[in-house]
Amino acid sequence: MSQPTAPSQTVGPEYRPATQLPTATVSTSVSRPNVHILAQTPQLIALLTMIRDKDTNRADFIFYSNRIIRLLVEEGLNHLPVVAKEITTPVGHTYAGVKFEGQICGVSIMRAGESMEQGLRDCCRSVRIGKILIQRDEETSKPKLYYDKLPEDIAERWVLLLDPMLATGGSALMAVDVLISRGVPEDHILFLNLIASPEGAKNFAEQFPKVRVVTAFVDQGLDEKNYIIPGLGDFGDRFYTM
Ligand code: PRP
Ligand code: URA
Repeated sequence: MSQPTAPSQTVGPEYRPATQLPTATVSTSVSRPNVHILAQTPQLIALLTMIRDKDTNRADFIFYSNRIIRLLVEEGLNHLPVVAKEITTPVGHTYAGVKFEGQICGVSIMRAGESMEQGLRDCCRSVRIGKILIQRDEETSKPKLYYDKLPEDIAERWVLLLDPMLATGGSALMAVDVLISRGVPEDHILFLNLIASPEGAKNFAEQFPKVRVVTAFVDQGLDEKNYIIPGLGDFGDRFYTM
């Protein structure tokens, strides 16, 4: 199958001469101010290479996905607002620091989004987590909402919405509609995502310009079944059942 042209760049430590660096496919850029793509570091590209490989077994898929999820959560937290906090150290000196403003919660789009819950818990102790069950119809690719269970005070929280795959964008858009219908302000939503299609990312970012998207990689496109290409296949199947 022919693929759209992929951006590529040399990857590796800067102390090595460019002639000794391999060339790899890197993320497509998206010209939307609310879409933030992780730095295309050698580590991230190596981790993505592992999970994209069809020969990677389930245990390795889980391990390397978790590594990327951790990077996403760590970066996502940088997008939450902070306020000044001055503290005194044990040696009697003050330090002008910051603390996060307000409370957060996670919301996973089931099933694949649940894979990102542990990464969030590892960074945010006793974080509350809500669930939205949305499934894409295999024939039409249209999302269907089955169920949601969200913290009662979600309207007062910053929400980290979790789903590793953004293909057409339909599922993520539907999830944001649910959050907004529960009173969550659009600009209090942060969507954490591993791989997006360019059309899905653009569509989502245009419909919800105040939702911040933090993704590890924007791929080249969608195939005729609306799977991301080159992608990694069905994330939920590879993480939970294959
Ligand atoms: C996948 C994925 C997203 C959605 C992306 O879930 O986890 O939720 O598809 O596609 P879209 O952007 O075109 O809506 P799926 O519905 O296959 O269910 P799963 O999580 O159980 O695998
Ligand atoms: N869901 C996935 O898991 N992968 C895709 O490529 C598209 C939707």
